[in-house]
Amino acid sequence: MSAPHEAGTIPVRKMNFEFDSVPRDFLNGNLAFSNYFNGLNLLFPEGERFFMHAVRDGLKTIKNPSPELKEQAKGFYGQEAQHSIEHLKYFEILDKNGYEFRGELAKFDRFIIKLRKKLPTKLRLAMTAGAEHLTAISSQMSLTDVDVANGHPVMRDLMQWHAIEEIEHKAVAYDVYAQASGNYFLRILGYLAAIVVVGGYSYKFATMFMRQEGYSKRKAAKLIRDDQRQILKRHSYLKSQFLAYFKPGFHPNQIDDEHLIEKARVDLAAYG
Ligand SMILES: [Fe+2]
Ligand SMILES: [Fe+2]
Repeated sequence: MSAPHEAGTIPVRKMNFEFDSVPRDFLNGNLAFSNYFNGLNLLFPEGERFFMHAVRDGLKTIKNPSPELKEQAKGFYGQEAQHSIEHLKYFEILDKNGYEFRGELAKFDRFIIKLRKKLPTKLRLAMTAGAEHLTAISSQMSLTDVDVANGHPVMRDLMQWHAIEEIEHKAVAYDVYAQASGNYFLRILGYLAAIVVVGGYSYKFATMFMRQEGYSKRKAAKLIRDDQRQILKRHSYLKSQFLAYFKPGFHPNQIDDEHLIEKARVDLAAYG
């Protein structure tokens, strides 16, 4: 890991993960969970570019944004850009491990680019704030899950590095949205849209990967659903935190996750 440099209070860390030896069942031998992560991973590069554009465009609509908010946004762009780079690099291992996904990924990317170009700024920002809530709460799972902890060390580090940074910048898109619009109903509409896109496509892609492991369509879908149920059982706080976003007075900093990233930052510092 290169030395992190500070961008406001959000540090940008440049990692250089070596994915060469990652097996297909990298999460502690749990193939369904590994493929659920793979499915989610396909959404990141273009999805994160959507987030960066939304925050940048949203910030431009705010009259005299505070220097703090601008600095936070800078850290946000820096972190998300690094996430895209590392997750894109990981795709080569999916190729090497024999998965076919490039055609479906190209279709998804075209869909996201279309949304980015056609949707109004405030809606894109509301979707980004909602998606960032989903990534922040699932980051707690990445930092505490037994299959991640006992998974392939490079994948554990990739997931935990991403998780730390999603928690560090979890309020940026929300705060920009609050100043650019703040409308409650649009915030919820954006959240629902993010749930449909993230939930729908990650499930579709995870099932696609499991089918390539030789499972029937039905069995592949069942294995992914069972895995999702297991995750929710192991991390029961996810449900209440998922619902908390619907409260009119919600703010991402109301969720206390600082203790989780403190420990993970120490582990990550020892990386490489
Ligand atoms: Fe990210
Ligand atoms: Fe993020």
